Amino acid sequence: MKLTVYAALIVGLLTISGCTTPQSIHPGAVWLDNRGQLIQAHGGGVIKLGNTYYWFGEDRSRDNSRTNRCVSCYSSKNLAHWTFCNQVLKLGNVENFQRGWALERPKVFYNPRTKKYVMYMHIDGALPGQSGGYSFARIGVATCAKVDGDYQYLKSFRPLGHESRDIGQFVDDDGTAYLIFEDRPFGFRIAQLSDDYLTLEKEMCLIPEHLEGGALVHYNGLYYLIGSELTGWNANPNVYATAKSLAGPWSEFKDIAPPETKTYDSQSTMLLKVAGTKTTTVIFMGDIWKPRMQWDSRYLWMPLEIGDGKLWLPQPHDWMLNIKTGEAVIKQ
Ligand code: DGJ
Repeated sequence: MKLTVYAALIVGLLTISGCTTPQSIHPGAVWLDNRGQLIQAHGGGVIKLGNTYYWFGEDRSRDNSRTNRCVSCYSSKNLAHWTFCNQVLKLGNVENFQRGWALERPKVFYNPRTKKYVMYMHIDGALPGQSGGYSFARIGVATCAKVDGDYQYLKSFRPLGHESRDIGQFVDDDGTAYLIFEDRPFGFRIAQLSDDYLTLEKEMCLIPEHLEGGALVHYNGLYYLIGSELTGWNANPNVYATAKSLAGPWSEFKDIAPPETKTYDSQSTMLLKVAGTKTTTVIFMGDIWKPRMQWDSRYLWMPLEIGDGKLWLPQPHDWMLNIKTGEAVIKQ
């Protein structure tokens, strides 16, 4: 039997048992789903519904149709073992771009008022007659009545009239939903979603720093914002700032890891807070991009050292998460 089949069997058994005992996460390693296939959720985001986590991200499988851009969804009870749910979006070239257009960093929000799942994505490409693959600089929106159903693309727009490339998702402790987006001429913006989540309606702040890969967490009364430098697919030293309010003022940016490691070759996509019965762990979710083999891009998930205005990404090692207590133990 092939190794991947064994792996799929083990993962499948753990998934069926709804395993919530401490489970290992292996940063940078091959991460297989319940089918024994590479998890395709790059530039992704995680939401929690009840006691189930859903991970959405770019599906860059080699066998995807070249004319589509895809988003996949996986579910998990322990954040370590993931079950493939559905390729929730298979988007054709709805905006009439030239070749090489992009759908990146999809993020899904659940709107309790409309009971709809709303997917935001960076949608980009060059329109006929234009040059430059990332000149559209818009947000795309798709919705669905079911978390892992087939999402319907609705529209694209420039949030509050601004350019938008990388997007990041943030839901505050009071349930208010925000998007972080990179507005190339000016910097990082954080804006609140409208009541129906179908647009952005209120800008919270503009941070005049040229950063992307935005990720935000509210921890012990302070907001921590991470961003990466603008170096395409190449890793760079990611940095963070803090503020008491989303409106700022924001502190100066500092490194989250030794700068020479270039964030251990990764790039931020989300900060995931796991509040357990004993403690709260904040997980850095990063992508280790492989630009020429995008389907094999890896994930770097590590528990952060965070508190009192400081944030630090420890050197990646395998680690265990107890999803009930929230405790994380790094294996040395
Ligand atoms: C950096 C971004 O963070 C990625 O999502 C992707 O857009 C690459 N740039 C493309 O070069």
